[in-house]
This record gives sequence, structure tokens and C-alpha cells, in this order.
Amino acid sequence: MVTFPVIRPRRLRKNKLIRDLVAETELSEKDLILPIFIKESINEPEPISSMPGINRYPLNDKLINYVETSYENGIRSVILFGIPSYKDDIASSAYDKNGVIQRAVRMIKDSFGDKIIVITDECTDEYTSHGHCGLVRYKDSTYIIDNDESLKIHAKIALSQAEAGADIIAPSSMMDGVVGEIRKALDEAGFYETLIMSYSVKYASALYGPFREAAYSKPAFGDRRGYQMDPRNAFEALKEAKLDIEEGADILMVKPAHTYLDVIRLVKTNFPEYPLAAYHVSGEYSMIKAAAINGWIDERTVVLEITTAIKRAGADFIITYYANEIARWIKEGVPF
Ligand code: PBG
Repeated sequence: MVTFPVIRPRRLRKNKLIRDLVAETELSEKDLILPIFIKESINEPEPISSMPGINRYPLNDKLINYVETSYENGIRSVILFGIPSYKDDIASSAYDKNGVIQRAVRMIKDSFGDKIIVITDECTDEYTSHGHCGLVRYKDSTYIIDNDESLKIHAKIALSQAEAGADIIAPSSMMDGVVGEIRKALDEAGFYETLIMSYSVKYASALYGPFREAAYSKPAFGDRRGYQMDPRNAFEALKEAKLDIEEGADILMVKPAHTYLDVIRLVKTNFPEYPLAAYHVSGEYSMIKAAAINGWIDERTVVLEITTAIKRAGADFIITYYANEIARWIKEGVPF
């Protein structure tokens, strides 16, 4: 006697053990990269008002303690953003041997060695008075971001970060040819083991707002729509990813993450042999945080659900300001 229906998907959801057995996606603390803001001119951690729970860290033991705590939580990778004590038109504090990032990398490497992967964001926006991701050339009453001149500066910054000991350089400028130029500079100097994780598919997103407050990197004029991708485009992501692969990128990235799950899936499906990072950006963090502070959502379950969704879409790992909390929550057991 056959009872209808024969196929019952609910059998696979019967209890937690069965659900865990058949789960397609598993989030691990090894998948998480923690962003850290480091500010040259402070001695104590400084809260960032647009990102509750996140601080800027000074170049001292407070930074080391934070990395240590994160390490104990299971975090094995950090990506560093510098807030320098001086800015100019050519981002010279970004390639200064004793610049904020160079010192931060050396400090972390001196304390942790190969226990922690140190990634450096490679860009000019935090280091220039104009706040753009390349060099600005003024022409008549207007200005342009000079792509090819910018490449030389980006290569210089990348090289100085590698010299300081960074394991992975993450160019985030969206300048055409930047990955190739950096690869060439690193190889010529013997840094052929230094990886490049390219912000291959980076959209011109309003979701970077809190970050720009955190890093004082809002453009002084204009916007980034002339170099970052148009949110209306998905397939163009394949062109950007392909170029970065040809230029020597080891790891690709899609950014933002939660809002661009379709793009993550598209890039992973087309280039499955390349590790793919996704950046759950500041605005995505702050929106959840604001709702959580108001008691409107269950922060832990929402964050785990969104982060799992980013992985399910095709990301191999996730850059997230929630890295420490997620690592702790995973240990408590995921609520699915
Ligand atoms: C550029 C950079 C930005 C972010 C990461 N790298 C800012 C921008 O493109 O304006 C934003 C990350 C976030 O919002 O969390 N250095």
C-alpha cells in the first residue's frame, strides 16, 4: 500500500542531526577574514560611531591584544586598513617604509609570524587629500583619475607592503591593469610568493558609507563611478574577473556581498578554479547592527543566515566585521 506523497522532502528536515548530515553549506571560522582599522595618531582604541562594536586601533599592544583575542576565537586572517598621520596628492604615506600599514604589518608579523595571514588593502583613497583611488590630474575646470600614472603608485604601495611582510596584497582601486602592474613589481623584486587577492568585482556602492567615515576616505569631490562597477551590471563582472586572472590574480573578490549574491554565483560558476572572496561591507554590517540594537532582529541568527547565504552563493571565504562574533557563535552551534 503506497501512501501519498511518496517523496517527502520533510524527511530530510526531521531533526537537527539529519539536517546537519545533509547540509550543503558549512560555515567555518577558517572562512572568515577580519578587517582592522589602524590609526597612526592614537594611543587607545577609538570607537567608530557609524559601526557600533568596531574600533580604530593604535600601533601598540592594544592592536596586538586584539589580534591575539581574534586568534583565540579561531580567526586566522586579517585585512588591514591604515589611517595615516598625513595625506598628500600622491599618497606618499601609503608607501612610506614607516607608514602606518608598514608598521602594523611588521608588528603583527613580529608577534604572530606565520600563525596569522596578513592581508593589506592596497589603495590610495585613505592616503590622499582628494580621497580618490588613483592620481588626480586637473584639466581645465575639471579633473580626471589618471589610470596609467596611478598604476606606478599602486605598484609602489604594493611593493612596500610586501617588503613589510604582508602575505597577500589586495588591490582595491579598480584601476585598469593594476593587478598586472603589481604582479610585475612584486616578481621583479623577488616577491613571487606574495599573493594577490584582487577586488576584481567592486561596485560603486553606497554601502561603503560607514567605512569612509571610519577611514576618513570619502572623496573630497566627485565620486567613484568612473572606476568602480555600475550596480546595474552583472555580466560585466566576468570581464573584470577574467582580466584579473590574466594579469595574475591568485584570489578574486566580489564586493559588496549580501547585495550581490547573484554576482558571487556568476563568478564562481564561471571561474570555479579560482578561490573567491566576498566582502560583507561596512553598510551591510551597520544595517544589521542598527536593527539589532533596536531589538528588531535576532542578531546572531540573522548574521549566521546571511553569512551562510554568502557562502552558499559561491564565496569560499568572507571578509566581515562580524568575524569574531561569528567564530564564537559557530562554536556555540549554528541555529539551523
Ligand atoms: C578602498 C576600500 C573601500 C572599502 C574597502 N577598500 C572604500 C571605497 O571603495 O570607497 C570599503 C569597505 C567597506 O565598506 O567595508 N580602500
